[in-house]
Amino acid sequence: MSKVFITCALPYANGPTHLGHLRSTYIPADIYARYNRMKGREVLFVCATDEHGTPIAVKAEKEGKKPKEIAGRYYQMIKNDLESCNISFDNFARTTDPLHYQISQNFFLKLYQDGFIYAKTIKQPYCDECNRFLPDRYVEGVCPYCGGEGARGDHCEVCGRHLDPIQLQDPSCLICQSTPEIRDSKQYFFRLSHFQNEIESWLNENDALPPNVKNYVSQWIKEGLNDWILTRDMEWGIPVPLDETEGKIIYVWLEALLGYITSAALWAHRNNKSWKKYWDDKAIHFIGKDIIYHHSIFWPALLMAYGCKLPYTIIAGDYLSLEGRKMSTSKNWVIWTSDFLETFESDTLRYYLMANAPLTRDTDFSWDDFQRRINDELADVVGNFLHRTFTFTNRFYQGQVPEAFQMDNYDQEMVDKIKKLPIVVGEYIENFKFREGLVEIIKLAKQGNKYFNDKEPWKTVKSDPEIASTSLYICNQLCKTLAIVLNPYLPVKSLEIIAVLNIEEKLEWDSANSFIPSGHKILPAEPIFSKIEDKVIRMQKETLYQNQKEVDTVKEIISIEDFAKIDLRVGNIIGAEKVKDSDNLLKLIVDVKDKKLQVVAGLAKNYSPEDILNQKVIILVNLKPAKLFGIKSEGMILATKDTLNVLSAEGAAVGEKIK
Ligand code: MSP
Ligand code: ZN
Repeated sequence: MSKVFITCALPYANGPTHLGHLRSTYIPADIYARYNRMKGREVLFVCATDEHGTPIAVKAEKEGKKPKEIAGRYYQMIKNDLESCNISFDNFARTTDPLHYQISQNFFLKLYQDGFIYAKTIKQPYCDECNRFLPDRYVEGVCPYCGGEGARGDHCEVCGRHLDPIQLQDPSCLICQSTPEIRDSKQYFFRLSHFQNEIESWLNENDALPPNVKNYVSQWIKEGLNDWILTRDMEWGIPVPLDETEGKIIYVWLEALLGYITSAALWAHRNNKSWKKYWDDKAIHFIGKDIIYHHSIFWPALLMAYGCKLPYTIIAGDYLSLEGRKMSTSKNWVIWTSDFLETFESDTLRYYLMANAPLTRDTDFSWDDFQRRINDELADVVGNFLHRTFTFTNRFYQGQVPEAFQMDNYDQEMVDKIKKLPIVVGEYIENFKFREGLVEIIKLAKQGNKYFNDKEPWKTVKSDPEIASTSLYICNQLCKTLAIVLNPYLPVKSLEIIAVLNIEEKLEWDSANSFIPSGHKILPAEPIFSKIEDKVIRMQKETLYQNQKEVDTVKEIISIEDFAKIDLRVGNIIGAEKVKDSDNLLKLIVDVKDKKLQVVAGLAKNYSPEDILNQKVIILVNLKPAKLFGIKSEGMILATKDTLNVLSAEGAAVGEKIK
C-alpha cells in the first residue's frame, strides 16, 4: 500500500492562529490528507509548534516571562485552534521536546563531521545599549535587495529573501531602537553554495514541483547561493553541540525543519511503527508562500548533505488579506480562529477559504463575501438540494429510497455525472487544485436542483409515479455521492449527511459513486446548512473595526522636545457647575497658583459638581483656548478616556509642574 508523509509548516508559538494560517497551509493539507486516507493510502500527517527563535524570545522579553512559558501557552491555543478546525494530524509535537533537541544536535553534528558545516569569524550587529549581539528579529532595517521597509535581520517579508543582518540598511535594535555597531563573532556555516548545481537539477528535473515554487527558486538560484549561517549568539534555542560554543544555539530554521522528522519520530515511537517508510515513499510539505526559500533551497540542500531522500513536492499557498488590506496582528487587523469559531461552524470556514480563490493566488477574506458564499452556495445550492430530496423521500416514500424505472436521457445524463464526479474531483485534489474540485461539487449540486425542478416530482408523484420515483432515486444517489466527495472539505457536514442517509460508510473515495439500493431507509432530516443573517455579519464587522481603533490610539514615537511642549500642572478645582443642556459637560474653575482657568470638561457622567469640587487634578495649561457649548475652555483636565476617572494629585502642591 502506498504511503504519504504530509506536513504543515510549524506555526510559531508566539500567538494563536488566524485565518491566514488556515488558508495557505492547514486546511489545504488537511483536505489532501483526508482524501489520501479515503483513497486507501497510508497517511502520516504531522506538525508541531515552532518554539525557538527570536519572535518568541522577543515576546517573552516584552512580557517579562520565560520563553518556554510563552511557548507552552500558545502551543495549547494553537493545538485547540487546529483541532476545532478538524485538522486531522496524526501528531502535533513541540520543538522543545527533548527528542527534538537530540535529533537536531545529531543532525548538526553529522553535517559538521562530514565537512558540510565549518566555523568562521564574521561581522555581526551588536547593540551597545543592550550589551548583546542582535540576531534575526532583534534588528530591523531596510531590505538591501528590494528596498522593503521593516525587514528583519534574517528575512524580508516584501521580497521573501533570506538576509544577513549586516546587509540591512538603516539598522536599529528592536528593543532599544539604537543603531547597532558591527563586531566580530565566530559562527558556524553550512556549505549551501556547494549545492547550487544539485539544487538546480533537482528543480529542473522534478515535475511535481508547482510553478510558483519553481519560479521563485530559479530566480534565487540565478543570483547564486551563499553559505548559510547556522548559529546564533543567544540563550533561547538548542545549544550547538560542539566544544567551546557556549552561548551559541542552532539557528531556529534548521531545527524547525527537522521538527517534521521529530513529530513523525514521536508518532512512530508511540505506535511502534517506522516513519521512514512514509518519508521514502512520498513526502509533501504544505507551506505559505513566504517560506518557499527555506523549504525549496535550505531544506533540500540539508537533506542532500545528510544523504536522504528529498521531498516529493512543496505546495505553497498564497496569502490571505482581510477586507482588502494586508493582515496585521500588531495592528489587530486580523481574525483569530478561536474568535471566528465562537459564532460560525468550522466547515463554513473551510468552505469559504477553499472556494474563494485558487490556492496559488492571493485572496481576500471579506465578511460580506463570506456571507454570500455560505448563503448562496452552501445553503441555497447544496443545502437546498439535500433538504428537498430528503423531505420528499420521507413524505412520499416513507423514507425509503424509491425504485428506478425506465430512465430517459436526462436521467441517464445525471447518473453519468454522478458516476464521474469522484473521478473529476479526485484528480483535482491529487493535483492540489482544491478550489477547482470544490467548484465541480457545487456545480453538480446546482444541476441536481435544476433536475429536481425540471422533473417536477411533486406533480408526477400523482400523474406519473414511475417518473417521480426514478428521479427521486437519482436525487438520493447524488446526495450520497456529494456526502462522500465533500468529506475532505467539510468533514463535519459530510458525516451529518451520511447520518441522514443512514448508510454504513467507510469513507472510501472509490466507492463514492456506488449507489444506495432502492428500499433503503433514510432518516427524517433537519436542514443541514443554514443561512447567516445580516445582523450577525454586521456585528462581526463592528468588532473588527472596533478592535482596530483600540490599537490605533497607540501613537507614533515623539521626542523629549515634543513632550516638553506640554505644560502640565497640579490644579485645585475651586468652582464646578453643570453645563446647561448637556449630560456630559461640567464647567470648572481651576486654580493653578499664578492664574485661574475656566475649563469645560466631559466628566459629568462620572462626577457631580460636588464630587469634583476641591479635588487636586492634573491639567494641561497651555492648550489653545476653544469654545464648547459657547463657553470658553482654557485647559484640559487629564482623565481616563472611557471610565472618566480624573488623574488625581492629592498631596501635591497647587501649581506644581508635572514632568
Ligand atoms: N515557523 C515558521 C514555519 C517553520 S516550518 C519548518 C512560520 N510560522 S508562522 O506561524 O509564521 O506561519 C505558519 C504558516 O502560515 C506558514 O505556512 C505561513 O506561510 C502561513 N501564513 C502566515 N501568515 C499568513 C497569511 N496572512 N496568509 C496566508 N498564509 C500565512 O512561518
Ligand atoms: Zn539595543
